Amino acid sequence: MNVLPEDFFRDPHVFYEQVRAEGPIHRIQLRNGLRAWLVVDYDIAREVLRHPDIRKDPNSVEGRQARVNDAGGSGLTSSNERLRHHLLTSDQPMHTRLRKLVTPAFSPARMTALIPRIEQIADELLDDVDRAGGPVDLLAAYAFPLPLTVICELLGVPIADREQFREWSSTVVDASMSTPEQQKAAGDAVVEYFDELIERKRREEPGEDLLSYLLSVSDDGDQLSVDELISMAQLILIAGHETTVNLIGNTVLALLTDPQRYRALREDPDAVAPLIEEMLRFNGPVNTATLRHTAKEVTLGGVRIPASELVLVSVAAANRDPRHFDDPDSFDPARGAGSHLAFGYGIHFCLGAALARWEAKIAITKLVSRYPELSLAVDNADLGWRESILIRGLLDLPVDPAGAVAMR
Ligand code: HEM
Repeated sequence: MNVLPEDFFRDPHVFYEQVRAEGPIHRIQLRNGLRAWLVVDYDIAREVLRHPDIRKDPNSVEGRQARVNDAGGSGLTSSNERLRHHLLTSDQPMHTRLRKLVTPAFSPARMTALIPRIEQIADELLDDVDRAGGPVDLLAAYAFPLPLTVICELLGVPIADREQFREWSSTVVDASMSTPEQQKAAGDAVVEYFDELIERKRREEPGEDLLSYLLSVSDDGDQLSVDELISMAQLILIAGHETTVNLIGNTVLALLTDPQRYRALREDPDAVAPLIEEMLRFNGPVNTATLRHTAKEVTLGGVRIPASELVLVSVAAANRDPRHFDDPDSFDPARGAGSHLAFGYGIHFCLGAALARWEAKIAITKLVSRYPELSLAVDNADLGWRESILIRGLLDLPVDPAGAVAMR
């Protein structure tokens, strides 16, 4: 059994490279006691993500058993059960039914229509950075509120409540970062919040937002139960910002450690999209995909895995697999990293991938054009990383804007 090393979160790839040399899949134990099979190989990662006997539903017999077997002292079994009825807690055919309901809200046409609003939000946030008139934490001032505002507006959740989400969502999103008591408290708070919001929306005129739409769907027939509605809303709210915040943060950090590349983007904005695609591969915001379990005994890469055990696919490790990507540890936007697994693979492929790409592209383009002299306000070595098995991102990102350019 491998235990994650102390410095895993600063650079997980040291550990991934070491264990990959020994095989594609390993039994690991997290600091909170949770045990799982960790996949570090690209081909096996894809196999697991589409394997019919490796499933997601925590309410199934095997899903429950796997959590009894492998949860250890983690908060995995203590989260509110009403939050376990969404896309990432369901398998086919339930998953197909749920996904069909929300897919239209994320169509390419709807995403393109959001672009002017995303640009406006980015401009307004950078105006606030200007007003601060000195070093700021770019995560708190820009990378976090940008995707959160977008997803709140899309979903129909009052933006005024956003500070609460920040606290809840980092707890709900990852059981490896909090105690069982914190997990329970955050889950209960999310359920209570959405219960009230949905009640309020039922009484009001339906808006153009996704929650109003999902509510009308559920009122029309038996399509969405209240728990499905609450689960789906919290999934979209959390998945819709936790990840993008860190894609923006990780990209800005990489650029500030290579100032020439940062400045060059100002002259060549077309270079932003391929740079973000390579960042998704090289240091994307997702470390491992969400938990899965074996519904039957399976053999992966020659390793026999019993039924009812937990499986974690490290998309970060798969994205640095030298058998799939040449020279995987170099950051090279020209490589065309389109086959990376940063957005997952198979039926659970990220619903918000197009939105995330737009948000990151706009965030970086605006930043570069407004602050050509932006620099890190602390030493790179002093930056802290979140101790999350799921999310790969910084705790904060202090930067010095050093004089804005008066243009948009
Ligand atoms: C850079 C940003 C993002 C990254 C790297 C990312 C990554 C992922 C990954 C890896 C999965 C699959 C998880 C698994 O199979 O266990 C996923 C699923 C999902 N993502 Fe994203 N995501 C991002 C942004 C977003 C945004 C903006 C939304 C907005 C709604 C979103 C909504 C979802 C949803 C709803 C699912 C579940 C899909 C399903 O199960 O059918 N994500 N994402």
